[in-house]
Amino acid sequence: MASNKKLLVLPGDGIGPEVMREVRRVVDWFDKRQAVRFDLEEDLVGGAAIDAHGVPLADATMEKAMNVDAVLLGAVGGPQWDSLDFNIKPERGLLRLRKEMELFANLRPALCFDALVDASTLKPEIVSGLDIMIVRELTGGVYFGEPRGIEELPSGERRGINTQVYTTSEIKRVAAVAFDLARKRDNRVCSVEKANVMESGVLWRDEVTKLHDAEFKDVELSHMYADNCSMQLVRAPKQFDVIVTDNLFGDMLSDTAAMLTGSLGMLPSASLGDIDETGRRKAMYEPVHGSAPDIAGEDKANPLATLLSFAMMLRYSFDLGEDADLIETAVKNVLNEGKRTGDIVAPGATMVSTTGMGDAVLSALDHLA
Ligand code: NAI
Ligand code: MG
Repeated sequence: MASNKKLLVLPGDGIGPEVMREVRRVVDWFDKRQAVRFDLEEDLVGGAAIDAHGVPLADATMEKAMNVDAVLLGAVGGPQWDSLDFNIKPERGLLRLRKEMELFANLRPALCFDALVDASTLKPEIVSGLDIMIVRELTGGVYFGEPRGIEELPSGERRGINTQVYTTSEIKRVAAVAFDLARKRDNRVCSVEKANVMESGVLWRDEVTKLHDAEFKDVELSHMYADNCSMQLVRAPKQFDVIVTDNLFGDMLSDTAAMLTGSLGMLPSASLGDIDETGRRKAMYEPVHGSAPDIAGEDKANPLATLLSFAMMLRYSFDLGEDADLIETAVKNVLNEGKRTGDIVAPGATMVSTTGMGDAVLSALDHLA
């Protein structure tokens, strides 16, 4: 039998612990019913860690994150920690995880469930059946490039500077993730930059093409300028399968794509790093939403974004595509039954609580298995 999968669960703050409680019930369900076994450890991050240890992520927690097969995170932050110094704010815990695990590829799916086509601002025929994946480079580009800063010119004017920088290895490793993913999907990658006006974009296009020709010839590759891509995403999003792009364009395009599908409460994500000597790829899975302090503690939060993040973990960290499908089908069935949490406006829907949604998913899983 395959060895147990080691998971580190970091529920965090606000609605994080509430949604994670429901996801843990599903993890237990898989542990008992399916072939996969989990060794699960839970720890603190964000405000919860500040309250307990005075830092947003304890060294011991960081150490654990480096040595598990995958990390599942809820959300961090809240008004009670807003007045803290920038360097010890809850968000720094998340940034430390991303940085030390060197999670350079951020995967943001945009998946439209049939029951939610009306939640989109676009016409049903444009979004129904939509299933695209945006791979955003996360550790390089203009957010980190040097030189940067604000300088005072002799004229008295001030000048703000940020620099877009990419090296061949940074481009190749994120493109490889995108090509790999495409092979598990519809086998198509669209690489997005602005090679028409940026040298870094010329390099990006060049390196992606070279890697494709050398190692991924079976995957269909196309190129698109970022401004056109933003138009195409709202005009005809179903033309895409996997989109790979840099940090800045990916930040915006992934948010645009996400909103095609409805609610923040439904959006999962994954952040992947390098594969180590043992063949394990560093990975963290988390919902796109934050800690939602406005509804925290009220049993109102939608747990599906975190649950779908767990499904991504099964698919991408553990190659358990069928188990991931099982979760996605259970979610689909629950939505088709008309069950909704408060974040999804739907006339005639049955409103359920966070726990109620967890119950519904578990019973849907029982029916499927
Ligand atoms: P948010 O995502 O927490 O909430 C935005 C709105 O969406 C709120 O009205 C909230 O009630 C609703 N919402 C979010 N997730 C929901 C869910 N699962 N079910 C139902 N409704 C949901 O973003 P906001 O308000 O900007 O930030 C709140 C706190 O979260 C801040 O401290 C912020 O720094 C932190 N944050 C943390 C993130 C993370 O941990 N990755 C990401 C974004 C914000
Ligand atoms: Mg953003």
